[in-house]
Amino acid sequence: MDNRPIGVFDSGLGGLTAVKELEKVLPGESLVYFGDTGRVPYGTKGREVIRRYARQDMDFLLRHGVKAVLAACGTVSSAAADIGAGLPVPYFDVVAPTARAAVRATENRRIGVLGTSATIHSGSYVKAIGELDGSIEVFPEACPLFVPLVENGCISPEDELVRIVVGRYLSPMRGAGVDTVILGCTHYPLLSRAIEQVMGAKVTLINSGREAAHALAAALEETGGLCAPGTKRRAEFYVTDAPENFSTVAELFLGHSVEGTRVDMTFD
Ligand code: DGL
Repeated sequence: MDNRPIGVFDSGLGGLTAVKELEKVLPGESLVYFGDTGRVPYGTKGREVIRRYARQDMDFLLRHGVKAVLAACGTVSSAAADIGAGLPVPYFDVVAPTARAAVRATENRRIGVLGTSATIHSGSYVKAIGELDGSIEVFPEACPLFVPLVENGCISPEDELVRIVVGRYLSPMRGAGVDTVILGCTHYPLLSRAIEQVMGAKVTLINSGREAAHALAAALEETGGLCAPGTKRRAEFYVTDAPENFSTVAELFLGHSVEGTRVDMTFD
């Protein structure tokens, strides 16, 4: 048994899709969430900058005494997995469990991958799928405008702007006839309804935050790393920009309100 909190981080609010799932599957576990809302998006930045930010984010969680770190961010997972692997606590990210779920789901062996520019250019999902099944065709698409839409709460499929942007990005994989689409960035599940509208209800959407949360839960269960029954749960949310904005949009992700605490980190 281990009563320390689980640490989860993202460049912003997207990682809350993993938190939402952790609240469901591990309701007794304490959590520390770090959202780097002051520097989001990461996905349009260069690899070295992403890696520097990722290291700082992981250090922040370690200073809060977490027992495991979940990079609930496709971009960090794609650019900084080796940094996570070197942590003194177990490290989890979104790429491997999400690729496994997509390979299980596809019937026509055609998978679309939506992600940030950094994630798509890293080739992380294409590689992970190829290692699982080299006969699957993968259709990656970078969607740099999705994160700003979501961070601004712009997610309704009725919104003209959402429809135009989603339609533009999805058009190639729609033409390719994929039957499974990886939402390779943890922000994207909020655009699920708009994505479904373009791709059709028969296409399976794989939520990377959810898959990562399940992988982490299974690993903690297997290794006896869960908290003792009856332990008082705590959940702390830290952000690097105004907490008021965080609280408003966080509710869209979690379905309930949370208070964010702004932290002043020295990012040098
Ligand atoms: N949620 C992050 C991801 O999964 C968003 C990336 C960004 O900040 O651009 O990739």
